Amino acid sequence: MFVILFVTALTAYLAHELWWKRRNLPPGPCPVPVFGNLLSLNYPPPGYEAFEKWTENYGPVYTFWIGNTPHIMINTFDKLKETFVRDGDAYVDKKNPPMLQLFRGGEYGVMDTNGAKWREHRRFALTSLRDFGLGKNLMQEKILIEVQDVFRKFDENEGSETDVAIIFDNAIANVINQLLFGYRFDEAKQDEFVALKKIIDAPQDVFGKFHMFLAMNVPIFRKILPNAIFEQPDRQLANMCLDLWFAGLSTTTNTTTWAIGYILNKPKIQQKLHEEMDLVIGSDRIITTAEKNALPYMNAVINESQRCANLVPLNLQHATTRDIVLDGYHIPAGTGVVAQISTVMNDKQVFTDPEVFNPDRFIDENGKLRKVEELIPFSIGKRQCLGEGLARMELFLFLSNFFNRYQISPSFSGPPSLIKNSGTVIAPRVFSAIVRKRH
Ligand code: HEM
Repeated sequence: MFVILFVTALTAYLAHELWWKRRNLPPGPCPVPVFGNLLSLNYPPPGYEAFEKWTENYGPVYTFWIGNTPHIMINTFDKLKETFVRDGDAYVDKKNPPMLQLFRGGEYGVMDTNGAKWREHRRFALTSLRDFGLGKNLMQEKILIEVQDVFRKFDENEGSETDVAIIFDNAIANVINQLLFGYRFDEAKQDEFVALKKIIDAPQDVFGKFHMFLAMNVPIFRKILPNAIFEQPDRQLANMCLDLWFAGLSTTTNTTTWAIGYILNKPKIQQKLHEEMDLVIGSDRIITTAEKNALPYMNAVINESQRCANLVPLNLQHATTRDIVLDGYHIPAGTGVVAQISTVMNDKQVFTDPEVFNPDRFIDENGKLRKVEELIPFSIGKRQCLGEGLARMELFLFLSNFFNRYQISPSFSGPPSLIKNSGTVIAPRVFSAIVRKRH
Protein backbone atom coordinates (compact mmCIF):
# COMPACT_ATOMS: atom_id res chain seq x y z
CA MET A 1 0.00 0.00 0.00
CA PHE A 2 2.76 2.40 1.05
CA VAL A 3 4.70 1.63 -2.10
CA ILE A 4 1.66 2.37 -4.29
CA LEU A 5 1.05 5.67 -2.49
CA PHE A 6 4.71 6.59 -2.77
CA VAL A 7 4.92 5.78 -6.49
CA THR A 8 1.66 7.70 -7.19
CA ALA A 9 2.86 10.76 -5.25
CA LEU A 10 6.26 10.64 -6.94
CA THR A 11 4.68 10.30 -10.39
CA ALA A 12 2.32 13.23 -9.69
CA TYR A 13 5.24 15.33 -8.40
CA LEU A 14 7.43 14.57 -11.42
CA ALA A 15 4.54 15.14 -13.84
CA HIS A 16 3.97 18.54 -12.25
CA GLU A 17 7.67 19.45 -12.25
CA LEU A 18 8.56 18.18 -15.69
CA TRP A 19 5.40 18.88 -17.67
CA TRP A 20 2.47 20.66 -16.00
CA LYS A 21 4.28 23.77 -14.73
CA ARG A 22 6.11 24.14 -18.08
CA ARG A 23 3.18 23.59 -20.41
CA ASN A 24 2.40 27.26 -21.21
CA LEU A 25 5.98 28.55 -21.33
CA PRO A 26 8.44 28.71 -24.24
CA PRO A 27 10.30 25.38 -24.40
CA GLY A 28 13.68 25.19 -22.73
CA PRO A 29 16.03 22.83 -20.92
CA CYS A 30 14.35 20.35 -18.60
CA PRO A 31 14.58 21.63 -15.01
CA VAL A 32 15.75 19.40 -12.18
CA PRO A 33 13.38 19.44 -9.20
CA VAL A 34 14.50 21.97 -6.54
CA PHE A 35 17.47 23.38 -8.52
CA GLY A 36 15.79 24.14 -11.84
CA ASN A 37 18.56 24.61 -14.46
CA LEU A 38 21.09 26.26 -12.16
CA LEU A 39 23.40 23.28 -11.86
CA SER A 40 24.08 23.27 -15.61
CA LEU A 41 25.84 26.65 -15.27
CA ASN A 42 28.67 24.94 -13.47
CA TYR A 43 29.55 22.54 -16.32
CA PRO A 44 31.70 24.37 -17.32
CA PRO A 45 31.55 27.61 -15.32
CA PRO A 46 30.52 30.37 -15.63
CA GLY A 47 27.64 29.11 -17.84
CA TYR A 48 28.25 30.79 -21.24
CA GLU A 49 28.38 27.41 -22.97
CA ALA A 50 25.12 26.20 -21.44
CA PHE A 51 23.36 29.42 -22.51
CA GLU A 52 24.79 29.15 -26.04
CA LYS A 53 23.79 25.50 -26.37
CA TRP A 54 20.23 26.27 -25.23
CA THR A 55 20.00 29.15 -27.70
CA GLU A 56 21.11 26.79 -30.48
CA ASN A 57 18.56 24.18 -29.38
CA TYR A 58 15.54 26.35 -28.54
CA GLY A 59 16.10 29.61 -30.44
CA PRO A 60 16.13 33.26 -29.34
CA VAL A 61 13.56 32.74 -26.55
CA TYR A 62 13.51 29.86 -24.07
CA THR A 63 12.59 29.23 -20.44
CA PHE A 64 15.31 28.88 -17.80
CA TRP A 65 14.41 27.81 -14.28
CA ILE A 66 16.09 29.42 -11.30
CA GLY A 67 15.07 27.02 -8.55
CA ASN A 68 11.30 26.83 -8.91
CA THR A 69 10.94 30.14 -10.76
CA PRO A 70 10.75 30.30 -14.55
CA HIS A 71 12.67 33.04 -16.38
CA ILE A 72 12.17 33.84 -20.04
CA MET A 73 15.60 34.28 -21.60
CA ILE A 74 15.99 36.67 -24.55
CA ASN A 75 19.13 35.61 -26.38
CA THR A 76 19.60 37.54 -29.61
CA PHE A 77 20.16 41.22 -30.26
CA ASP A 78 17.14 41.51 -32.58
CA LYS A 79 14.86 39.93 -30.00
CA LEU A 80 16.28 42.20 -27.28
CA LYS A 81 15.49 45.24 -29.41
CA GLU A 82 11.96 43.97 -30.00
CA THR A 83 11.41 43.38 -26.25
CA PHE A 84 13.68 45.27 -23.81
CA VAL A 85 14.02 48.31 -26.10
CA ARG A 86 10.82 48.77 -28.13
CA ASP A 87 8.57 47.53 -25.34
CA GLY A 88 10.88 48.67 -22.53
CA ASP A 89 8.21 49.46 -19.93
CA ALA A 90 6.99 45.86 -19.97
CA TYR A 91 10.48 44.54 -19.02
CA VAL A 92 11.60 47.16 -16.53
CA ASP A 93 10.89 45.62 -13.13
CA LYS A 94 13.44 43.58 -11.21
CA LYS A 95 12.61 40.10 -10.01
CA ASN A 96 14.43 39.82 -6.75
CA PRO A 97 14.48 36.75 -4.59
CA PRO A 98 12.72 37.69 -1.30
CA MET A 99 15.95 36.84 0.52
CA LEU A 100 17.65 39.84 -1.03
CA GLN A 101 15.42 42.15 1.00
CA LEU A 102 16.82 40.47 4.10
CA PHE A 103 20.30 41.70 3.26
CA ARG A 104 19.06 45.18 2.46
CA GLY A 105 16.65 45.50 5.35
CA GLY A 106 13.74 46.03 2.93
CA GLU A 107 13.14 47.36 -0.60
CA TYR A 108 15.80 50.05 -0.82
CA GLY A 109 18.45 51.41 -3.16
CA VAL A 110 18.20 51.63 -6.94
CA MET A 111 19.35 48.28 -8.24
CA ASP A 112 16.67 46.14 -6.63
CA THR A 113 13.75 48.56 -6.37
CA ASN A 114 10.78 48.94 -8.71
CA GLY A 115 8.10 51.48 -9.66
CA ALA A 116 8.14 55.07 -8.45
CA LYS A 117 10.92 54.47 -5.92
CA TRP A 118 13.25 53.06 -8.57
CA ARG A 119 12.42 55.84 -11.09
CA GLU A 120 13.02 58.60 -8.55
CA HIS A 121 16.33 57.19 -7.33
CA ARG A 122 17.63 56.33 -10.78
CA ARG A 123 16.92 59.91 -11.88
CA PHE A 124 18.55 61.20 -8.70
CA ALA A 125 21.69 59.07 -9.26
CA LEU A 126 22.00 60.16 -12.92
CA THR A 127 21.52 63.84 -12.06
CA SER A 128 24.05 63.59 -9.23
CA LEU A 129 26.62 62.01 -11.56
CA ARG A 130 26.09 64.94 -13.95
CA ASP A 131 26.24 67.51 -11.14
CA PHE A 132 29.53 66.04 -9.98
CA GLY A 133 31.07 66.57 -13.38
CA LEU A 134 30.23 63.68 -15.69
CA GLY A 135 30.13 65.01 -19.23
CA LYS A 136 32.30 67.94 -18.16
CA ASN A 137 36.00 68.24 -17.44
CA LEU A 138 35.45 68.01 -13.71
CA MET A 139 35.01 64.25 -13.64
CA GLN A 140 37.98 63.77 -15.93
CA GLU A 141 40.13 65.87 -13.60
CA LYS A 142 39.12 63.69 -10.64
CA ILE A 143 39.97 60.51 -12.55
CA LEU A 144 43.30 61.90 -13.75
CA ILE A 145 44.35 62.57 -10.14
CA GLU A 146 43.90 58.82 -9.63
CA VAL A 147 45.77 58.01 -12.84
CA GLN A 148 48.76 59.95 -11.46
CA ASP A 149 48.48 58.11 -8.16
CA VAL A 150 48.55 54.81 -10.06
CA PHE A 151 51.69 56.06 -11.86
CA ARG A 152 53.32 56.94 -8.54
CA LYS A 153 52.72 53.44 -7.17
CA PHE A 154 53.90 51.63 -10.30
CA ASP A 155 56.94 53.93 -10.60
CA GLU A 156 57.93 53.09 -7.02
CA ASN A 157 57.83 49.38 -7.88
CA GLU A 158 59.34 49.65 -11.36
CA GLY A 159 61.13 46.47 -12.40
CA SER A 160 59.84 44.34 -9.53
CA GLU A 161 56.76 42.13 -9.21
CA THR A 162 53.74 44.28 -8.40
CA ASP A 163 50.19 43.34 -7.51
CA VAL A 164 48.35 45.01 -10.39
CA ALA A 165 44.74 44.58 -9.27
CA ILE A 166 45.16 46.21 -5.87
CA ILE A 167 46.60 49.41 -7.33
CA PHE A 168 43.72 49.85 -9.79
CA ASP A 169 41.18 48.81 -7.17
CA ASN A 170 42.33 51.57 -4.82
CA ALA A 171 42.30 54.17 -7.59
CA ILE A 172 38.85 53.21 -8.91
CA ALA A 173 37.51 53.13 -5.34
CA ASN A 174 38.84 56.68 -4.89
CA VAL A 175 36.81 57.88 -7.89
CA ILE A 176 33.51 56.50 -6.60
CA ASN A 177 34.29 57.45 -3.00
CA GLN A 178 35.00 61.06 -4.02
CA LEU A 179 31.58 61.13 -5.62
CA LEU A 180 29.69 59.56 -2.74
CA PHE A 181 31.53 60.86 0.32
CA GLY A 182 33.77 63.66 -0.95
CA TYR A 183 37.19 62.24 -0.11
CA ARG A 184 39.74 59.78 -1.43
CA PHE A 185 41.67 57.01 0.32
CA ASP A 186 45.13 58.55 0.44
CA GLU A 187 48.02 57.13 2.45
CA ALA A 188 46.50 58.35 5.72
CA LYS A 189 43.22 56.59 4.97
CA GLN A 190 44.54 53.23 3.80
CA ASP A 191 43.30 51.41 6.91
CA GLU A 192 39.81 52.77 6.28
CA PHE A 193 39.98 51.61 2.64
CA VAL A 194 41.04 48.11 3.66
CA ALA A 195 38.29 47.92 6.31
CA LEU A 196 35.63 49.22 3.91
CA LYS A 197 36.79 46.87 1.15
CA LYS A 198 36.40 43.98 3.53
CA ILE A 199 32.80 44.94 4.20
CA ILE A 200 32.03 45.65 0.55
CA ASP A 201 33.71 42.45 -0.61
CA ALA A 202 31.78 40.38 1.92
CA PRO A 203 28.53 40.39 -0.06
CA GLN A 204 30.54 39.95 -3.27
CA ASP A 205 32.30 36.93 -1.80
CA VAL A 206 28.95 35.72 -0.56
CA PHE A 207 26.82 36.37 -3.67
CA GLY A 208 29.65 35.52 -6.06
CA LYS A 209 29.86 31.95 -4.78
CA PHE A 210 27.81 29.34 -6.56
CA HIS A 211 26.45 27.77 -3.37
CA MET A 212 25.22 31.18 -2.19
CA PHE A 213 23.61 31.79 -5.57
CA LEU A 214 21.75 28.53 -4.99
CA ALA A 215 20.89 29.60 -1.45
CA MET A 216 19.39 32.85 -2.67
CA ASN A 217 17.24 31.11 -5.23
CA VAL A 218 16.48 27.64 -3.96
CA PRO A 219 14.22 27.78 -0.87
CA ILE A 220 15.63 24.66 0.78
CA PHE A 221 19.10 26.26 1.06
CA ARG A 222 17.93 29.50 2.65
CA LYS A 223 18.68 28.41 6.19
CA ILE A 224 22.38 29.01 5.59
CA LEU A 225 21.84 32.72 4.88
CA PRO A 226 22.88 35.24 7.53
CA ASN A 227 20.44 37.79 8.96
CA ALA A 228 19.93 41.31 7.64
CA ILE A 229 23.17 43.22 7.05
CA PHE A 230 21.65 46.67 7.34
CA GLU A 231 20.59 48.11 10.62
CA GLN A 232 21.21 51.78 9.77
CA PRO A 233 18.46 54.29 10.41
CA ASP A 234 18.50 55.63 6.81
CA ARG A 235 18.32 52.45 4.84
CA GLN A 236 17.57 54.09 1.48
CA LEU A 237 20.71 56.22 1.68
CA ALA A 238 22.82 53.30 2.90
CA ASN A 239 21.53 51.02 0.13
CA MET A 240 21.97 53.69 -2.54
CA CYS A 241 25.61 54.17 -1.50
CA LEU A 242 26.08 50.41 -1.42
CA ASP A 243 24.63 50.07 -4.94
CA LEU A 244 26.89 52.74 -6.40
CA TRP A 245 29.98 51.65 -4.50
CA PHE A 246 29.43 47.98 -5.23
CA ALA A 247 28.35 48.33 -8.88
CA GLY A 248 30.81 51.11 -9.60
CA LEU A 249 33.96 49.59 -8.14
CA SER A 250 34.02 45.86 -8.79
CA THR A 251 32.82 46.05 -12.42
CA THR A 252 35.35 48.69 -13.46
CA THR A 253 38.27 47.10 -11.58
CA ASN A 254 37.36 43.68 -12.95
CA THR A 255 37.26 44.93 -16.55
CA THR A 256 40.59 46.72 -16.10
CA THR A 257 42.36 43.70 -14.62
CA TRP A 258 40.87 41.33 -17.23
CA ALA A 259 42.01 43.71 -20.00
CA ILE A 260 45.58 43.64 -18.68
CA GLY A 261 45.31 39.87 -18.14
CA TYR A 262 44.30 39.31 -21.78
CA ILE A 263 47.08 41.56 -23.02
CA LEU A 264 49.69 39.75 -20.90
CA ASN A 265 48.59 36.57 -22.64
CA LYS A 266 48.96 38.16 -26.10
CA PRO A 267 52.15 40.25 -26.26
CA LYS A 268 51.54 41.31 -29.90
CA ILE A 269 48.51 43.33 -28.79
CA GLN A 270 50.63 45.35 -26.39
CA GLN A 271 53.10 45.97 -29.21
CA LYS A 272 50.30 47.30 -31.46
CA LEU A 273 49.01 49.50 -28.64
CA HIS A 274 52.47 50.97 -28.17
CA GLU A 275 52.82 51.62 -31.89
CA GLU A 276 49.55 53.57 -31.84
CA MET A 277 50.59 55.48 -28.71
CA ASP A 278 53.97 56.37 -30.22
CA LEU A 279 52.36 57.58 -33.42
CA VAL A 280 49.55 59.63 -31.85
CA ILE A 281 50.89 60.68 -28.43
CA GLY A 282 54.67 60.34 -28.76
CA SER A 283 55.64 61.13 -25.14
CA ASP A 284 54.69 60.24 -21.57
CA ARG A 285 52.26 63.15 -21.27
CA ILE A 286 48.79 62.55 -19.85
CA ILE A 287 46.14 61.39 -22.34
CA THR A 288 42.66 62.91 -22.02
CA THR A 289 39.27 61.99 -23.45
CA ALA A 290 39.81 64.65 -26.16
CA GLU A 291 42.17 62.11 -27.77
CA LYS A 292 39.77 59.18 -27.60
CA ASN A 293 38.85 59.25 -31.29
CA ALA A 294 42.51 59.42 -32.31
CA LEU A 295 43.23 56.07 -30.60
CA PRO A 296 41.03 53.51 -32.39
CA TYR A 297 43.13 50.48 -31.45
CA MET A 298 43.07 51.42 -27.75
CA ASN A 299 39.27 51.68 -27.98
CA ALA A 300 39.11 48.34 -29.78
CA VAL A 301 41.15 46.74 -26.98
CA ILE A 302 38.74 48.15 -24.39
CA ASN A 303 35.72 46.93 -26.39
CA GLU A 304 37.17 43.46 -26.78
CA SER A 305 38.10 43.36 -23.08
CA GLN A 306 34.51 44.17 -22.14
CA ARG A 307 33.19 41.57 -24.57
CA CYS A 308 35.52 38.83 -23.36
CA ALA A 309 35.36 39.72 -19.64
CA ASN A 310 31.56 39.34 -20.08
CA LEU A 311 31.14 40.10 -16.40
CA VAL A 312 27.57 38.97 -15.73
CA PRO A 313 27.04 35.54 -17.34
CA LEU A 314 23.34 35.38 -16.40
CA ASN A 315 22.71 39.15 -16.06
CA LEU A 316 20.33 40.60 -13.52
CA GLN A 317 16.83 39.19 -13.45
CA HIS A 318 13.94 41.38 -14.52
CA ALA A 319 10.18 40.80 -14.36
CA THR A 320 7.37 41.68 -16.75
CA THR A 321 5.24 44.57 -15.52
CA ARG A 322 2.16 43.42 -17.48
CA ASP A 323 0.93 40.43 -19.47
CA ILE A 324 2.82 40.07 -22.74
CA VAL A 325 2.71 37.77 -25.75
CA LEU A 326 6.12 36.56 -26.85
CA ASP A 327 6.55 34.27 -29.85
CA GLY A 328 2.90 33.25 -29.42
CA TYR A 329 3.26 32.44 -25.71
CA HIS A 330 1.15 34.30 -23.20
CA ILE A 331 3.49 35.44 -20.40
CA PRO A 332 1.71 36.78 -17.31
CA ALA A 333 2.77 39.95 -15.46
CA GLY A 334 5.46 39.30 -12.85
CA THR A 335 7.23 36.52 -14.82
CA GLY A 336 11.04 36.53 -14.73
CA VAL A 337 12.76 37.84 -17.91
CA VAL A 338 16.46 38.11 -18.63
CA ALA A 339 18.36 40.06 -21.28
CA GLN A 340 20.95 37.36 -22.01
CA ILE A 341 23.76 39.75 -22.95
CA SER A 342 26.53 37.18 -22.48
CA THR A 343 25.10 35.02 -25.29
CA VAL A 344 24.75 38.08 -27.56
CA MET A 345 28.41 39.01 -26.96
CA ASN A 346 29.46 35.45 -27.83
CA ASP A 347 27.26 35.24 -30.94
CA LYS A 348 29.33 33.44 -33.60
CA GLN A 349 27.42 35.14 -36.42
CA VAL A 350 28.62 38.55 -35.23
CA PHE A 351 31.91 37.75 -33.48
CA THR A 352 33.84 35.08 -35.40
CA ASP A 353 35.69 32.73 -33.01
CA PRO A 354 34.13 34.50 -30.02
CA GLU A 355 36.41 32.71 -27.52
CA VAL A 356 39.49 34.41 -29.04
CA PHE A 357 40.60 37.81 -27.69
CA ASN A 358 40.89 39.78 -30.92
CA PRO A 359 40.58 43.59 -30.77
CA ASP A 360 40.94 43.78 -34.57
CA ARG A 361 37.31 42.68 -34.92
CA PHE A 362 36.45 46.27 -33.87
CA ILE A 363 38.67 47.89 -36.53
CA ASP A 364 37.25 48.51 -40.01
CA GLU A 365 39.04 48.33 -43.37
CA ASN A 366 40.07 52.01 -43.03
CA GLY A 367 41.69 51.47 -39.64
CA LYS A 368 38.81 53.23 -37.86
CA LEU A 369 36.84 51.98 -34.87
CA ARG A 370 33.90 49.84 -35.99
CA LYS A 371 30.65 50.27 -34.10
CA VAL A 372 29.13 46.90 -33.29
CA GLU A 373 25.63 47.14 -31.85
CA GLU A 374 25.84 43.68 -30.29
CA LEU A 375 28.54 44.84 -27.86
CA ILE A 376 26.25 45.38 -24.86
CA PRO A 377 28.27 44.87 -21.64
CA PHE A 378 26.17 47.54 -19.90
CA SER A 379 22.97 45.67 -20.81
CA ILE A 380 20.05 47.12 -22.73
CA GLY A 381 16.68 48.78 -22.09
CA LYS A 382 15.43 51.00 -19.29
CA ARG A 383 17.61 49.40 -16.63
CA GLN A 384 20.79 49.70 -18.68
CA CYS A 385 23.75 50.48 -16.40
CA LEU A 386 23.44 54.00 -15.01
CA GLY A 387 27.20 54.25 -14.48
CA GLU A 388 28.05 53.58 -18.13
CA GLY A 389 29.36 57.10 -18.84
CA LEU A 390 31.59 57.06 -15.77
CA ALA A 391 32.81 53.52 -16.46
CA ARG A 392 33.70 54.32 -20.08
CA MET A 393 35.64 57.40 -19.03
CA GLU A 394 37.52 55.49 -16.32
CA LEU A 395 38.38 52.55 -18.57
CA PHE A 396 39.75 54.84 -21.27
CA LEU A 397 41.74 57.13 -18.97
CA PHE A 398 43.22 54.36 -16.80
CA LEU A 399 44.08 51.95 -19.61
CA SER A 400 45.29 54.42 -22.25
CA ASN A 401 47.53 56.26 -19.79
CA PHE A 402 48.82 52.98 -18.33
CA PHE A 403 49.81 51.54 -21.71
CA ASN A 404 51.27 54.81 -22.91
CA ARG A 405 53.56 55.01 -19.90
CA TYR A 406 54.47 51.37 -19.28
CA GLN A 407 55.59 48.15 -20.82
CA ILE A 408 54.07 45.35 -18.74
CA SER A 409 55.39 41.80 -18.71
CA PRO A 410 54.28 38.66 -16.88
CA SER A 411 55.69 37.82 -13.46
CA PHE A 412 58.08 34.90 -13.04
CA SER A 413 55.10 32.55 -12.71
CA GLY A 414 53.88 33.48 -16.21
CA PRO A 415 50.84 35.37 -17.53
CA PRO A 416 47.63 35.25 -15.46
CA SER A 417 45.19 32.40 -15.97
CA LEU A 418 42.11 33.29 -17.99
CA ILE A 419 39.90 30.63 -16.42
CA LYS A 420 36.69 32.03 -14.97
CA ASN A 421 34.98 31.20 -11.70
CA SER A 422 31.34 30.29 -11.36
CA GLY A 423 28.94 32.75 -9.80
CA THR A 424 26.80 35.74 -10.58
CA VAL A 425 29.70 38.11 -11.26
CA ILE A 426 33.07 37.25 -12.80
CA ALA A 427 35.81 37.89 -10.21
CA PRO A 428 38.83 40.11 -10.97
CA ARG A 429 42.08 38.65 -12.21
CA VAL A 430 44.40 38.93 -9.25
CA PHE A 431 47.99 38.68 -10.45
CA SER A 432 51.35 40.33 -10.21
CA ALA A 433 53.38 41.55 -13.16
CA ILE A 434 56.45 43.66 -13.89
CA VAL A 435 56.13 47.17 -15.28
CA ARG A 436 58.81 49.34 -16.85
CA LYS A 437 58.53 52.94 -18.01
CA ARG A 438 58.69 53.39 -21.80
CA HIS A 439 59.85 57.00 -21.94
C1 HEM B 1 32.73 48.24 -16.73
C2 HEM B 1 31.89 48.68 -15.84
C3 HEM B 1 30.44 48.30 -15.69
C4 HEM B 1 29.71 47.28 -16.25
C5 HEM B 1 30.19 46.20 -17.23
C6 HEM B 1 28.36 47.38 -15.75
C7 HEM B 1 27.32 46.52 -16.11
C8 HEM B 1 26.03 46.63 -15.62
C9 HEM B 1 24.96 45.72 -15.96
C10 HEM B 1 25.09 44.52 -16.91
C11 HEM B 1 23.85 46.12 -15.29
C12 HEM B 1 22.50 45.42 -15.29
C13 HEM B 1 21.49 46.10 -16.15
C14 HEM B 1 20.19 45.33 -16.21
O1 HEM B 1 19.49 45.19 -15.19
O2 HEM B 1 19.83 44.85 -17.29
C15 HEM B 1 24.22 47.30 -14.52
C16 HEM B 1 23.37 48.00 -13.69
C17 HEM B 1 23.76 49.01 -12.86
N1 HEM B 1 25.02 49.60 -12.79
FE1 HEM B 1 26.61 49.10 -13.91
N2 HEM B 1 28.31 48.45 -14.89
C18 HEM B 1 29.55 49.04 -14.82
C19 HEM B 1 29.89 50.17 -14.10
C20 HEM B 1 29.07 50.85 -13.23
C21 HEM B 1 29.43 52.03 -12.49
C22 HEM B 1 30.77 52.77 -12.57
C23 HEM B 1 28.33 52.37 -11.71
C24 HEM B 1 28.14 53.48 -10.72
C25 HEM B 1 28.53 54.67 -10.80
C26 HEM B 1 27.30 51.39 -12.00
C27 HEM B 1 26.05 51.37 -11.43
C28 HEM B 1 25.00 50.55 -11.81
C29 HEM B 1 23.67 50.62 -11.21
C30 HEM B 1 23.24 51.52 -10.07
C31 HEM B 1 22.90 49.66 -11.89
C32 HEM B 1 21.40 49.36 -11.66
C33 HEM B 1 20.60 50.26 -12.57
C34 HEM B 1 19.10 50.08 -12.42
O3 HEM B 1 18.65 49.03 -11.96
O4 HEM B 1 18.37 51.03 -12.80
N3 HEM B 1 27.76 50.50 -12.93
N4 HEM B 1 25.55 47.59 -14.74
